[in-house]
Amino acid sequence: MRQIRFDNVSKSFDGEIILKNLNLNIPSGQFFALLGPSGCGKTTLLRLIAGLENVDSGKIYLGDKEITNLPIYKRRINTVFQEYALFPHLSVYENVAYSLRIKREKESVIKNKVGDVLKTVRLLGFESKYIRSLSGGQKQRVALARAIINEPEVLLLDEPLAALDPKLKEQVLIELIDLHDKLKTTFLYVTHDQFEALTVADQMAIMSSDGNIEQIGVPKQIYEFPASIFVANFVGNTNIIDGVLQIKDNVWEVKVEGLGSFYVFVPSIKSWMSNGCKLFISIRPEKIYISKKEIEGFSNRLIGKVIDIIYYGRSTQYRVLLKNGKRLTVFEQNEEHFPQEVIDYEDEVNLYFQKENVVLLES
Ligand SMILES: Nc1ncnc2c1ncn2[C@@H]1O[C@H](COP(=O)(O)OP(=O)(O)OP(=O)(O)O)[C@@H](O)[C@H]1O
Ligand SMILES: [Mg+2]
Repeated sequence: MRQIRFDNVSKSFDGEIILKNLNLNIPSGQFFALLGPSGCGKTTLLRLIAGLENVDSGKIYLGDKEITNLPIYKRRINTVFQEYALFPHLSVYENVAYSLRIKREKESVIKNKVGDVLKTVRLLGFESKYIRSLSGGQKQRVALARAIINEPEVLLLDEPLAALDPKLKEQVLIELIDLHDKLKTTFLYVTHDQFEALTVADQMAIMSSDGNIEQIGVPKQIYEFPASIFVANFVGNTNIIDGVLQIKDNVWEVKVEGLGSFYVFVPSIKSWMSNGCKLFISIRPEKIYISKKEIEGFSNRLIGKVIDIIYYGRSTQYRVLLKNGKRLTVFEQNEEHFPQEVIDYEDEVNLYFQKENVVLLES
């Protein structure tokens, strides 16, 4: 059992509360991502698990065992930090072998283990190279090798890819997923980059700036059904509009000033949702279909004028000004399987979207 559990944990620095009565369950063997803005307390949470900080109150468990006050060396937990923390004057082999030397393992054991982990992180043949001669991605893999050589029950990863360029980042992310499949230990991956979290995570938790866990779920659930405005905005891009809920004869609509009413569909009804209540709706830019034509089959339609077009290669982003002065963002994939409609600056357009793609958020 390698499940990590926070039970009512609080932590403050110099009288400032960072984590308050935090409850969190990280299931055994999962690749779990913790996503939150800079300064919200992610590193602090990792340091509490690793034993590098002490809680003010509450308990931390690893499986059934309480580890709140267990010394660092008795925890089978390893951390990969953003800045690698490697020894630049030692070879790859010696960096990876370091902790085994401290434990006074036999040379033959060290040789076997280092060989195994270097194979796992695809660095065989790099044994005698010095750290300073490696690329960012290679250094990252040495740091990983060093963290997994002690067969930790839990691997903590604190923004481990921050120093890598986007292409390399994508590659190392895939390597991390493979590594997790191979090791099957619990990975806790901390980042403020939503792309990284969505890519790697079996499950993810979203932490708000004040250190609260706002939502936990599989990436698709978090993205498609954000539970709050904070989550909707923080994970991906979205359009937020305020309105009033109208429920009549089991038909749900949201009335927006100056724009009329939209049909909405609510998969699970929350206690705050009542006829006449104020709320926000979130519509992802890629869930909106933009066209100058009249098209059937959509639950909702808005009319507006294109005020901005940005071409991204794979997709194009449009900004559209609506009648009530509100601006919406729309993404269109540049698929071009068929001749695509040309939409220009200042064109009058229809924006179509389905009721299932409107998310209702508490005001
Ligand atoms: N040792 C410390 N002493 C005093 N304050 C600290 C200490 N460590 C962290 N803090 C404060 O606690 C808050 C949370 O810091 P933390 O490093 O956990 O944030 P983070 O979510 O990891 O941010 P980032 O994404 O920028 O790494 C910050 O306001 C920080 O200044
Ligand atoms: Mg941090």
